Order: sequence, then structure tokens, then C-alpha cells
Amino acid sequence: MCGIVGIINHQKISIKNDLLKSLKRLEYRGYDSVGYATIEGKVEKSVGEISNFLDEIKDSTTSCAISHTRWATHGGVTKINSHPHWDCNENIFTVHNGIIENYQELKKELIEKGHIFITDTDSEVISHFLEEELKSKNMVDAIKSFISQTQGTYAILVIEKGKNRIYAIKKDSPLVLGIGNDRLYLASDIYAFSDSTNKAIFFEDGEFAIIEPDTYSFYDSAGKALKKEIYEFTWSIPQEESVQNYPHYMIKEIHEQPIATQRLINSLDGEQHDKIKKIAELVKNSKRVVFTAAGSSYYASLLGVYFLNRIGINAHTLIASEFQNFMLVDKDTLFIAISQSGETMDVVTATKWAKERGAKIVSLVNVPHSTIQRMSDISLEIHAGPEICVAATKTFTNQVVSLLYLSWLLGFSVNMKTIPNKIDYVIKENEDLIKKMADELYEKKDIYIIGRGLSYPPSREMALKLKEISYIHAEGMMGGELKHGTIALIEPGTPVIALIPGKDFDMYSNAKEVEARGARVITIANMMDSDFKLDITINDGKFSILAVIIGQLLTYYIARKKKLPIDKPRNLAKSVTVK
Ligand code: F6R
Repeated sequence: MCGIVGIINHQKISIKNDLLKSLKRLEYRGYDSVGYATIEGKVEKSVGEISNFLDEIKDSTTSCAISHTRWATHGGVTKINSHPHWDCNENIFTVHNGIIENYQELKKELIEKGHIFITDTDSEVISHFLEEELKSKNMVDAIKSFISQTQGTYAILVIEKGKNRIYAIKKDSPLVLGIGNDRLYLASDIYAFSDSTNKAIFFEDGEFAIIEPDTYSFYDSAGKALKKEIYEFTWSIPQEESVQNYPHYMIKEIHEQPIATQRLINSLDGEQHDKIKKIAELVKNSKRVVFTAAGSSYYASLLGVYFLNRIGINAHTLIASEFQNFMLVDKDTLFIAISQSGETMDVVTATKWAKERGAKIVSLVNVPHSTIQRMSDISLEIHAGPEICVAATKTFTNQVVSLLYLSWLLGFSVNMKTIPNKIDYVIKENEDLIKKMADELYEKKDIYIIGRGLSYPPSREMALKLKEISYIHAEGMMGGELKHGTIALIEPGTPVIALIPGKDFDMYSNAKEVEARGARVITIANMMDSDFKLDITINDGKFSILAVIIGQLLTYYIARKKKLPIDKPRNLAKSVTVK
């Protein structure tokens, strides 16, 4: 994953207040370590988050520097493995987002030629490769041979000591040039500079560019000069970006859900209405609808399939990383990609693949101008606002609300208008009870969540939340599957959360079956006559959304009790831009 930022100017820029301030806006892409290099040859790196790094280092100035926030792929989380990397002569400095797949082969050849490697990363090969090529070529030719000889994915920035210039190269990892009033930016996405300029040029695969303080030139992989369009975007910076009076972004974002869903519904009734009507038309006129997504967005897509199937629409979904292995698409397929970030590599790859096969591409994204939005024929924005906590909360809910709205346009019966108030009510009504439940559950090693139909996707989403934020092993599963193996794991006291929407007697029986084996059954249910103590009652049809919100709160309060790093859980990143 990783985020990269470079800035170049005639005047001096501040490392802390300009470069690292921009880099901090990309920290959602990874926060294992951070580093920067200047054209004076100064390099500083550190393991951990950017805020700690800012406390550690003294500010300095330069006219040109590159920086990197890392999500480790190859090589442990250490200072030496942090970017930037350099060549043997400490003359070329590089930052890289992506994976150089044939790095072992290239590294072996370079070592044979006398290069000395000091890290365990794939990325270090870049600076040594360029150093070797520069012995007989200029930088443009060295970059051309890099593009032709490497396999893998990359957004790379290169600087040379003493030269006020940045080289930028892109394949399959996002890269954009930001055109500011007095400076040029290179970054993984526009968010790095969207607070200071709205002009950008997106790199396409195989392109590279040479950036100087007031000029930039783009080339294709063969070195042919390209004319590129400047893209002007709108980006408002809502108040939601600050944590306000909340202790964590996660709880703030959970509490924002009534407002976020209302904003989305207003936009679907208003400025996005034509767009969603067009998508509904496409759904009606396609032979079948195929969703793809990853993580929480995939669970939202499962609900989309449930809603559409209920009204007779042939809809399927598949996890993006397996899409090409298990799904077929053709020109009669409507392909719908769901992605909060709009950058998830597996979703981007599946979308490209579907596009090549002639499918119509629709997407649901939260981040405007993202790669997936730009690849789509029609892209709906879910208007959840910036989500800072790594865990998806309000964006999951808004994805589901968008899918409910689409299904409602096609005949699914639901009262959209009551959603924001119901969410508000469920949070207010249950938060204290959930805190008590967290006190009971926080030391458990395993939690099982069972659901059926409408409540199956929520069971998966709740389990994902519990794993990633409260570090409890959790399994969300179909109630009917339980007795085909997993029930062997139920011991006296094992917590099982049963999601029982409506009068679902099969779910009720599944809950009874585990109770009979000593499980501590917690029910989240629509009212039904039963001899269970109903722990949490959701007396409403928007069960899928509301049950997940209960799960979000439970996760949050368990993680708080365990004093975990809630907004930035270990090993994760918000935008997963590697396969
Ligand atoms: C879970 C979570 C992840 C994302 C997944 C897809 O809380 O945040 O599982 O849902 O990485 O990300 P997007 O939606 O950006 O494609």
C-alpha cells in the first residue's frame, strides 16, 4: 500500500509544515514507518506514525523532497527497511508504492555487478537499477529500461542529489501531479494536496514524468512526449475531518451515521437522482448484475444481492481478489464495484478485467475522483464524508443505504425516510447496554455470530469489526452451516451472537441448538415470541443496518476496555493498494 508525496518549488518548503503535512493526509494508506529525502541528500526515517516522527525531528527546509508512509510488504517493519532507499553512492533516492515482483532476479544481477544492498525490501532494487543504468544512459533512458525490465506494480518518485527535479513513474499503483500556485506535488492521491489546489494530472499506466519547479513533461513507456489534460476537481473539507470532542474517530463516525445517511438520502433524492435512476435502468436492462468488492464493502454487496434477488433480479457478488477465478462477465453483464476508497487494488483489477470484457461499469465510492470512480461509466458517491478510522463504519452503512435506495427504485419495499431516525434511536437506546456487554465479553478468545438471509451479511461484517478492532477471533456465519462442523467449537460459555430478523424460526432453532450446548447466546432480534431473553431488540425492518451498528458499538467498547489503538489497528491500512 503506502503513500508517497514529493514537493518541488523554487522557494524553500518546510519538511514538517509542507512535506510531512501532506504525507500525513495519506497515512490511511499505511503507518508502519515514515521517511523523507531531500535533494541535499538529507534522509530521516523512523518506525511508527507520522505524529511521533514530527515530534522526533527538527524542521528544515529544501526546494525539493520526497517522502513515504509505509505499509510493509517485503521486509520487516524496521528503520532500515523504511523508505526512501538509495543507491551505493547515496546519490539517487527513491520512494515506492507497490511491489517489484521480479526484484530477486534483478537484485541478484545487480549484486553480481557489485551493488551492495542494505535492506530486505523489493523497493531498494529501484535505486540500484537506475544507478547501474546511469553508467551508460541518461535518466530518461534509464527509466525506459526500468519500465521494460521490471514486473509488478509501482508509483515511484526519484530524486538525484543536487538536482531540483523529481522523476515520477507509474504502473498499477496510483500517482497524481498536483499543480499548486507556487509548487508542484506528486502524490498517491489528490487528498495529499486537495487543501491547497484543485488542479491535478493523473498518471496512466506505463507513463513517467519529469517535474521541475515550473515545468512538467509526461512520457509514455517508450519515451514519447504526451499532452495531458489538467483535471479540475471540487473538494470541500468538512468539519468531520477533526475528531472534535470524541476520544476516537471510530465512535465519532459511528455517531455520525444518522447525519451521514440523511445526507446520502438527500443527495439520492436530489443531485444524484438522475444518476441512480440511470443505474436502475441499467439493472433492468442487463441480463445479470455482478458486484465485486473487498472486506466490509463486500458484505454491503452481499446485502445488495439479497435486496435485488428479492425483487427477481439476477444478481451475484464475489470478493474482488477471486473475481477472475470464479466469475464470468460479458457485454450483457452490469458490473458494480463497491469501494469506500475507490483505490483497492483487487477491486481496480477486477474492474479493469470486466471492462475489457465489455461489461458496463458502475461504482459506489466514498472518495471522489478515485481510480475506480474514474474507470466507471456511472459512479455514485455515498457521501459518508471522510472516514478516518481504519475500520469502515458509516461508509458500510451508506453503501447499504445506496443499495437499498436502488432496490427501492426497482420495487423493493422499504421506507427510506425513517432510516436516519431509526439509527439515532438504536444508538441512543442501546449504547449503555452495549458497554455492559463489552465488559462481559472483552476477555473472550472467540465469538461466533450467526445469521440467515438478511442477517447473514451483518454477521460477517460484525465478525470483521471484532477481529480488526478488538482483536478477538470472531466468525460470522450462516446459521444453517453451524451444525456442519463449527458447532464442535462451542463450549460452555462460548459467546454466540444470534441475529434474528423477523419471525425467523430457523434462526431461532440455530440459537437454541448452541444454547443447548452451553453457549452464552446473545440475541439481536426483531420482536418474536421466544423464551430467550432478548438482549437487544431491533423492532424494525432495517435490521441489516441496525444490527451492524450494534456490532460497531460492541467492537468499539471492547477495544476501549482492552486499551487498543482503535483508529489505527495493528497491521492494517485503510486503503489496500497491493494484491
Ligand atoms: C473493514 C475495512 C476493510 C475495507 C476493505 C475494502 O473495516 O475497512 O475491510 O472494507 O479494505 O476497502 P474499500 O471499500 O476502500 O475498497
